[in-house]
This record gives sequence, structure tokens and C-alpha cells, in this order.
Amino acid sequence: MAAPLSDPVAGVQDLIASWVRVKVTYTFARLNVADALQPTGTAKTCQELASILEAHEDSLYRVLRTAGQLGLVTEEAGDHESDTDMYAVRGGRRFVLTPMGEVLKEDHPTQFKYFSMVWGLPAHAESQNKLFETVKTGQPGCKLAFGADHLFQLLDKDPMEHEIFNQGMTSHSNMQGKIVAASYDFSKCKKVVDVGGSKGTLVQLILDAHPGLPLGISLDRKELIDTLPPLPANSRLQFATGDFFEPLPESVHGADVVLMKFIMHDWGDADCKRILDNCKAILAPGGLIMCVEMVMGETAGAAPGSLPIYQQAMDLTMLSVLKRGRERTLKDWDGLAASAGLKLIASPSGSYVWGQAPGTMVVMQPV
Ligand SMILES: C[S@@+](CC[C@H](N)C(=O)[O-])C[C@H]1O[C@@H](n2cnc3c(N)ncnc32)[C@H](O)[C@@H]1O
Repeated sequence: MAAPLSDPVAGVQDLIASWVRVKVTYTFARLNVADALQPTGTAKTCQELASILEAHEDSLYRVLRTAGQLGLVTEEAGDHESDTDMYAVRGGRRFVLTPMGEVLKEDHPTQFKYFSMVWGLPAHAESQNKLFETVKTGQPGCKLAFGADHLFQLLDKDPMEHEIFNQGMTSHSNMQGKIVAASYDFSKCKKVVDVGGSKGTLVQLILDAHPGLPLGISLDRKELIDTLPPLPANSRLQFATGDFFEPLPESVHGADVVLMKFIMHDWGDADCKRILDNCKAILAPGGLIMCVEMVMGETAGAAPGSLPIYQQAMDLTMLSVLKRGRERTLKDWDGLAASAGLKLIASPSGSYVWGQAPGTMVVMQPV
């Protein structure tokens, strides 16, 4: 991402052009281009694709051409530019899906299509567009753009965005869940509770990996839990409704492990303390709180200027779409734990960052 030293102006030009990366990826995923380009390896013309996707042909061509540059499709070579009827010719240009484009298919095992779409949803994109005003005023982008305190208020107003967001989170949990499940012997627990657990994907992966664990509960807001299909009677996964800013319901008390994935980074320190207080109150004696999140700087292990761009993008997203949300360094995590009467626990290998990226976690216990 760094500007080439030999031509700093070209470096800035590259930065300006990089807006197309998110927008084209979002549009490509939302249009379902990857599914329209099946079976894999088959070329289709822009005209055919426009008809399948009910899209405007010239606009689609220009997006696909850029998607080619970004590595999602390959545009087949041809003698098109010499033709006089440029628009008709472009309609005839042929595209094939690349392995990277395959990731955005509906049936890809990671369901990553949904996680990629989250970044382009209006709730995210329009809040991020306010970054300048956020920096000037300290107000989150979602407040400036929509008058909302945080992302979840916005999602509740739009069922389609809410579903894409929840699917995106499911996709993310699918990718991280196995690493988390392998990072701790959950089979010695009787009850694991995932607070803010969305559709229960993370807990389900832990239950699958640890057949000896009798019960996993995913707790989330009523607005989300009410949208989920009923579970089979004998399911070891259960759902609970609750607000993590209030005392949590009796059904989740006595947890050997409270998991929270991508929760703390949504909130400022004072809100995190309230959440941690409520989670601490439901722990069984000897219980642990496991926050599945990135630790800022950990993977780079170096100076702030060299933090991975993905971490920075996440941090600025939290700044934009949530109320004082942020990614945290290990020192920040330590302070957060102490504020709620908790302490960080080292993993068996002696590290305060458990697991491995992208499934790292910070583990806490009451002092
Ligand atoms: C960033 S998502 C993470 C979801 C899930 N843990 C994952 O990583 O896939 C945050 C979750 O917190 C839930 N949430 C937000 N505010 C909440 C509240 N006050 N009480 C309970 N859950 C809440 C949201 O509904 C959402 O599912």
C-alpha cells in the first residue's frame, strides 16, 4: 500500500483509485456475477451476463473490466478495440471466473460473499464517507450520516441489510471458529455462552469439535434471535435473548466460558466495562471470558506505521459505524480487563494472545 518512493504523485493517484476495490467487490458480490459465471471455466459474454443479472450492459462491462484488473475475472483477449461499434462489441466481450472470483459464489464453503458485502452496505459505506467530519468533531459517522448511535440501530431498520450483515458474521465465524475450537479444551466445560453470538455459528463449531461439551448457548438481541428458525428438540445449541448492557438472563448463568467474538471492538471502554461486568456475573467459579478479536499490532509486532492495513481498516470502520468502537493493543486489553476486575490469562504457550490469526483471542478471569 505504500507510495512508490520514485513517484510520490503516482502513489497518491493509486490511493485515490483504490475506492474501486471495495465498491467493485461489493457490486460483483451483490449482483451474483460469480454464480452467473458457472460452470467454472466457462466464458460468458457481457451481453449474456447482463441478461442473466438484469443489469445495464455498458455499466456492467465497465465493472467487469475493473473486476478483471482486481483479479475476480479474466477478460478474454479479442480484436475489439478496432471495431467501430464499440458498445455492441463490448457486449460481446467474454469473461471467465478466476479462483479469487470463486470465493464470491453463493455456495462457497466460507460464504465470504456476505462478509465482503458488509463493507459496501449503506450503513457502513455512508458512515465511512463521513470520516472527515468524524475526525473534525469526534462524532461517529453513523451519527453524522443517519443520526444513529450505532450500526445495530441502522440494521434493525432494514431487514435486507440486517440479513446480509448477519450472514457476513456467520461467514467470519465459519473461518475463525475451527481455530478457536482448537485453542482451548472446551470438552471440560458444562456450559459455554457466546454473548452477542448472532446465529450461533461459533458455538456450533465448538460443539462439533468437542462432542463432550453438553451445552452451548448463543445470546443475542431479541430483534436477531426472533428471525432464527427453531432448533431441533435435542440440540446441544440453544438461543437466548438478552441485552449485554443489562444483567443477563438466568438461563446463561453458570457459564464455564463466556465467548465474545467481535463484540468489544464495537464499543468504547466505558461500554465494554459494562458488558464485561455483566459477563463476569454469569461465570461459574473458575470461569473464563474469551474475547475473539484481533490484537492491534500483534501480527505486525512492530511500530504503529507498519500495522497491517486490514487492522487499520477495521479500526477506522469501528470509528465510523459504532459509538467509540476501536481495535485494541494488548496494553489496551490489559487496561480494559483491569477496569472490570479481571486479569488477562496467558495461554499454555505463555502468550497473552491465544490461537492464531485470524482466530486470535484474549482470555480473562476475575481477579
Ligand atoms: C459484530 S457482530 C458479531 C456477531 C458474532 N459474535 C460474530 O462474530 O459472528 C455483534 C453482535 O452483537 C449483537 N449485539 C449488539 N448489541 C447488543 C446488545 N446490546 N445485547 C446483545 N447483543 C448485542 C449484534 O446483534 C451482533 O450479533
